[in-house]
Amino acid sequence: MGETLKYDTSLMKGYINSEELERMHSRVEIAHDLLVNRNGEGSDFLGWMDLPEEVDSKVIADIEKTAEKLRKISDYIVIVGIGGSYLGARATIESLSSGRDEEVKILFSGYNMSGHQMADLVDFLRDKDFSVNMISKSGTTTEPAIAFRMLESLLIEKYGANGAKERIVCTTDKEKGALRKIADKKGYKSFVIPDDVGGRFSVLTPVGLVPIACSGIDIKELLKGAKDQRKGSMDCDLETNLSYRYAAIRHMLYRKGKRIEVLASFDSGLHYVDEWWKQLFGESEGKSSHSIFPASCDFSTDLHSMGQLIQEGERNIFETFIIIDEEGQRCEIPFSKDDEDNLNYIAGKQLDYVNKKAYEATAEAHFEGGVPNSAIILSKRSPYCLGRLFYFFEKAVAVSAYISGVNPFNQPGVESYKNKMFKLLGKPSS
Ligand code: PA5
Repeated sequence: MGETLKYDTSLMKGYINSEELERMHSRVEIAHDLLVNRNGEGSDFLGWMDLPEEVDSKVIADIEKTAEKLRKISDYIVIVGIGGSYLGARATIESLSSGRDEEVKILFSGYNMSGHQMADLVDFLRDKDFSVNMISKSGTTTEPAIAFRMLESLLIEKYGANGAKERIVCTTDKEKGALRKIADKKGYKSFVIPDDVGGRFSVLTPVGLVPIACSGIDIKELLKGAKDQRKGSMDCDLETNLSYRYAAIRHMLYRKGKRIEVLASFDSGLHYVDEWWKQLFGESEGKSSHSIFPASCDFSTDLHSMGQLIQEGERNIFETFIIIDEEGQRCEIPFSKDDEDNLNYIAGKQLDYVNKKAYEATAEAHFEGGVPNSAIILSKRSPYCLGRLFYFFEKAVAVSAYISGVNPFNQPGVESYKNKMFKLLGKPSS
């Protein structure tokens, strides 16, 4: 049996039934037709659908070669980007980090504008060997542009303009934007983000693949997982197309007053998978007064902070767990002669075993407390399974947004804060 992604809805009992699912089917079918016939709103941005199948082997080879080169000359590689230009890479790198060759450390920057953090990073890197992968589709986003300007200066100060050139890789549009101009003018190595793939759907383009390859993770396995998931999500059968089943269930729960979806895992390594998912669903669906609020929790940590509210607060929540169904063998709870902490009843067990029981108990308790929940179960902590997960959610959100009647592929609301900020900063109009 290969590595798998399963979707368990057993703790949705009483909230969904087969007749309701059947009724949802026609709405899913309309959304599915918009996707496959490419005639829904935003259909210029459907390139992500076929990416795993159509991936250009020359580009993959170039990414691997470039990553290898950066790894040879760097102790640290700084990934500069915000939103869809860094979350997929961070999700992959941080969730697969344990046990991975960490000869080269990956750092992230350009995802906020904290002077405190930026100054600390520049101070830290001053006497380190480092390289930069600057990622921006528009090539004009303020946060990463500022970080890049500072890190590029530091590289030039340390290695000279030619030395810096060896250590900078840009990922951006093929012709538009300031970053493309900079890369071309200064001769920086660059990768192209396809026109028809939006930021939050770009993890399987050079946006995600360059940083992931820089971390030493096998990008071909990631793509293989996405490709296999794609195969299983081509038709409109809610039994077998798990992305559509998940999308349909979310809509049914929303209609029953469940307005908040909490994505939760029992592994902080998956924290950035949640962050990636929040952007994917928040920016794709959050365009009408009837959109689900995507939230996340790291359990069991957050059971000691948010657990009370989820168990007994307003009953407007449903949960989706991401579970890695693999028991690590590296962390056995030791036996103690005195048993002063009363833990001998679990001595000899793996910590992952105890964690799994915490998950089973939480799912049951929350269900009994009025929080329907389901689980996406990955058989392994692997690039392959993550590839499956990314594609699972991308397909789900596209169909889910079309069910709601909104364009999944734009984000007009994001401009509001930017316009006010530029006015406050006195940005000249271009
Ligand atoms: O999904 C999106 O398109 C956005 O969230 C972008 O990823 C984010 O704003 C970063 O944009 P850019 O890559 O143009 O710097």
